[in-house]
Parts: sequence; C-alpha cells; structure tokens
Amino acid sequence: MKYKINNIYIEKKFIILNNFLNKNKYNISKVILLLDNNIKKYYLKYFLKKISILKKSKFIIIKSGEKYKNIKTCIKIWKKLILFKIDKKSIIINLGGGVITDLGGFVSSTFKRGIKFINIPTTLLGMIDASIGGKNAINFYNFKNEIGIFNNPILIIINKNFIKTLPKNEILSGLGELLKYGLIYDKKYWNFLKKIDFNNYKNIKWDKIIYKAILIKKKIIDKDPYEKLGIRKILNFGHTIGHSIESFFLSKNKKITHGEAIALGMICESWISKKIKKLNNNEYEEICNIILKYFKIKIIKEKYFNKILNYIKNDKKNYNNNIYFSLLNNIGKCSFNKKINKTLILNSIKQMNKIYFLKKKKKNEKI
Ligand SMILES: NC(=O)c1ccc[n+]([C@@H]2O[C@H](COP(=O)([O-])OP(=O)(O)OC[C@H]3O[C@@H](n4cnc5c(N)ncnc54)[C@H](O)[C@@H]3O)[C@@H](O)[C@H]2O)c1
Ligand SMILES: [Zn+2]
Repeated sequence: MKYKINNIYIEKKFIILNNFLNKNKYNISKVILLLDNNIKKYYLKYFLKKISILKKSKFIIIKSGEKYKNIKTCIKIWKKLILFKIDKKSIIINLGGGVITDLGGFVSSTFKRGIKFINIPTTLLGMIDASIGGKNAINFYNFKNEIGIFNNPILIIINKNFIKTLPKNEILSGLGELLKYGLIYDKKYWNFLKKIDFNNYKNIKWDKIIYKAILIKKKIIDKDPYEKLGIRKILNFGHTIGHSIESFFLSKNKKITHGEAIALGMICESWISKKIKKLNNNEYEEICNIILKYFKIKIIKEKYFNKILNYIKNDKKNYNNNIYFSLLNNIGKCSFNKKINKTLILNSIKQMNKIYFLKKKKKNEKI
C-alpha cells in the first residue's frame, strides 16, 4: 500500500479490500457489486479474480452514462435489492465512475434507511473527486444532482491501474477538477500541474497527482463536511456556469463530460472574478491558456442564454432569488457567497464565445 488518508486507501493489489471482506469485522451478511456495462466488459472477470470472496455475490449492472443517473435507475436497483433479499447488514460495492458512486451511494443510503457501501472509483474524476466527500446525488428533471444525501462510504479504494483503459476525454474530465483544486486552494499544486503534459497521458505518473488532489479535497471538506459553514462551496468554483452548460448539453442529447463542462465554467467564472476586481488579468490569461491547452470551447448561442440562466437560477448555492458564486481572488485562493447579476453572467459566456472566434480567426490567418 502506498498512501492512506483516513478511510481512503491508494493501493494497487486490493489487499485492504480483501482483508476488509475476509475479516468481516462488521458481520456483513451479503455483498452486492454495482457496476455499469463498460466496467463489466473491462473489469468484472479481473475483479472477481482479485477478490475471490465476491464470486458468491450478486451483481447489479446498469447502462453507462450520465443520463442514467436518475430515479428510474434507482428504482431498478432498489427492486433488485429487494429481490436479492438484501438486509441491513448487507454492503454494496460501487465499482465505477462518478455516476456509479453517486447512484450507488444514494441508493445505499436510502435503502432500508441506509446500508453500508464501499466506493471503488474507476475514473480519474471518481478517484480524485466524486467518490470522496459524502455527496451522493441523482439528476432530476434535467437538473444536475437535484436529489441527494450526505453519507460517507465505509471504505474508498483508489487503484490507479483502472486509468489504463480510460479514453482520453475521460482523463481530461478528471483534469478539469484537478486544475480546480490548484485554482481554489493551492497555487503550488497549480504550478505542479502546469508542468505536466496531460495530452501525453500514457506516460504520466499518477500517484502524486492523485494523492495531493485527495489531500486538498479532504482539507476543504473536513472544515465543512455538510456545507453548513460555507467554505466547502469553494469546491463549486466553475460549477455554477459549468453545471448549467452540462445540463444544457445533456438536455440536447449532446456529449460533454463533467470535467469539460467545469473547465468551460472555470473560464467564465475566472472572467467574472476578474470583472469584480479580484483576479488580475495576468492570472486570468494564465488560467485560460492552461485550460485551452486541453479543452475546446463549445459555443453557446445567445438564443439559448435563457435556458442557461434557468439552470443557473436553480443552483444549490442560491437563496432569496439571488445567484451566488464561488470566485477566485487569485490563483490558490477562492471566496464564496459572491452575489452576481445576470448581465455579468451572460457577458462571461459571451466572452467565452469571443475566445472561440478569436482562436478560429488566428488559425485561419495561419493557413
Ligand atoms: N459526489 C461528488 O462529490 C461528485 C463530484 C464530482 C462529480 N460527480 C459526479 O460524477 C459524475 C461523473 O463521473 P465520471 O466522470 O467518472 O463519469 P462516468 O461514471 O459516467 O464514467 C465515464 C465513462 O467512463 C466509463 N468508465 C469508467 N471507468 C472506466 C475505466 N476504468 N475504463 C474505461 N471506461 C471506464 C464509464 O462506463 C462511463 O462510460 C457526474 O455525474 C458528476 O455529477 C460527483
Ligand atoms: Zn465537479
């Protein structure tokens, strides 16, 4: 084992998981494995070989993708749990990306008022973000994470070997959140990430990147586990606009990864940070340059601005009909509860569109 942070273990051989299940300290009656069809294809056989005790277990396999992180899928899973005669002493192992850990965490926390669960994230985004921090939610009515619950898994196992089969866009999705950690909390981490070429992702040494990211997230959530004090809201930098972009593309059945939407959200929200005279222009440009090394801007036409605003109005940080943002003071420091008006929000999206056309023009001039 390489690293341990409370109940989070970064290890490659599943020794901790095997010990946990074999010793059965909690008197577990049944183990259920929740996974999606991709994970089944890549890892089910491998996983059963590594954790032989699971050969006797039941599996629940769902279709992969954000659009299945909804109540319909929950109902299917709850029905299966009843069919498998799952009792309060049973445990669910969520093996997959953020969709599986969010769904699995939610279903486990609500079934019979809560049964224990273990998260084994298989995406980079899951390893450094979604599986950690106790937020478990499903999408509802095209709104992201609208119905959810705070509850922590009993164990989290991070095995970087899963990254080997991830497609590039999913690796970059995780990168979106990694960059966010540097921006909101740790300039040193931002500078460390800046030196890595994530386009050449096959040669990356992930251990340190993942470990440091988890440390940052843990430091923030430990100060405010239930988002009562507010500090935890800084993790939402880039997400007010990012989630609206993600919801908008999902509603149109167009592909966008979570981290990609957040990266675009961070471009817009960095611009707002600059406009309210917090972030300086040099740092704003540095942020845009690094993000645009890995992500392409997706144009949001003005005819859709109302839709985008509707999603933003529903953001969980809002109250009293005002829209609140977490915004950067500088790279490495973020504040929360910043009230921002609609014009500034829409201008930030217009500005992002402008960057797209400027880039396109430059490319054409070169040709
Ligand atoms: N709870 C939280 O705190 C939190 C934080 C961030 C994001 N999230 C949520 O996480 C979700 C996004 O998670 P995600 O990016 O992991 O997406 P995902 O779970 O949809 O996984 C992305 C795709 O990769 C596939 N996949 C997973 N592991 C693989 C592997 N090792 N090899 C090959 N393919 C693999 C999946 O089947 C899926 O098709 C969103 O719903 C987001 O809202 C939650
Ligand atoms: Zn996120």
